[in-house]
Amino acid sequence: MSPAPEHNSVKVVVCGAAGGIGQPLSLLLKQSDLISHLALFDVVNAAGVAADLSHINTKSKVTGHGRESMDEALQGAHTVVIPAGVPRKPGMTRDDLFKINAGIIRDLAEGVAKNCPDAFVLVISNPVNSTVPIVAEVLKKHGIFNPKKVFGISTLDVVRSSRFVSEVIPSVDPKSTRVTVVGGHSGVTIVPILSQIPGHASLTQEQIDALTHRIQYGGDEVVKAKDGAGSATLSMAFAGARFTNVILEATVAGKAGLVESTYVNLAADSSASTQAFREKTQLDYFALDVEFGREGVSKIHALPKVSAYEQTLLDAAIPELKANIEKGASFITAA
Ligand code: NAI
Repeated sequence: MSPAPEHNSVKVVVCGAAGGIGQPLSLLLKQSDLISHLALFDVVNAAGVAADLSHINTKSKVTGHGRESMDEALQGAHTVVIPAGVPRKPGMTRDDLFKINAGIIRDLAEGVAKNCPDAFVLVISNPVNSTVPIVAEVLKKHGIFNPKKVFGISTLDVVRSSRFVSEVIPSVDPKSTRVTVVGGHSGVTIVPILSQIPGHASLTQEQIDALTHRIQYGGDEVVKAKDGAGSATLSMAFAGARFTNVILEATVAGKAGLVESTYVNLAADSSASTQAFREKTQLDYFALDVEFGREGVSKIHALPKVSAYEQTLLDAAIPELKANIEKGASFITAA
């Protein structure tokens, strides 16, 4: 019998690791054999979370880093996952978080530029539509932006879509049915392409409306139920770990053909079709199905065929997304 293939393993940093998302996300990442060093950075309690996780009997070493040792946390990182910042309270939109989170993300991106300029950067902190352009503009300022390596994690929209659809179409297995969700990651910018799901024909327009609204505003259900104690953390940690694992499987283990929807800079794929889409929408960032390879993005899939209803959703998403992108980018370029 041939020996099991040897994989490399790499350093992954979680920024905001002691938070509501950061802790369960770090727990899930501790289970990855593709991680040799899990570095946990937070301005509070990173040492405690790291000590706790470090007792779990998997391969990776775990280290905790406070405010004074951000550089040490980031040095030599292969992948940096960012759930740092403040979450929503009832009545807040993701855009309301911009004032606080924009500065946090800018400073972390500066840390990436200084300590791990080749790293994959996976942004969870909201508003994702704007925080990803912030990261990109900081990296551009340093001349090191690689659009194949910077992502907004919109996987929770995909996870919610699979689950919510399975509650309406009983033949849909929530685990194996992946719904393509395009656009951005907030309210009307979230556009689930339900017309591509097997069994879609059985849905009434009323059901499609209700499902679409629930996917777009699923986060509000959690914010309301937590009643001031934050937003989605456990389902987000699950989604964040799923996306991070896809990146590691593709880039470290060399697994081909992995696809996830993610919010990405459209310069990551120079193909005529992606560039025509960019030209048509006049948007630099958009969530689409992305295929990953060793270097990150290997291909951005074209927007699937959409129904007339989905086209109206896209028409509503595009101006909002454009404003969100400009707000993020100008936070750096106009500073
Ligand atoms: P939280 O408040 O529980 O945790 C945030 C953590 O970030 C805290 O431990 C805090 O100390 C830390 N932090 C603050 N400033 C920092 C800095 N400069 N450097 C490093 N760490 C810092 O918040 P939670 O619930 O974990 O949410 C985090 C972010 O994720 C929020 O912006 C939230 O809106 C976003 N989110 C994104 C989702 C998505 O689908 N992409 C879904 C749910 C939340």
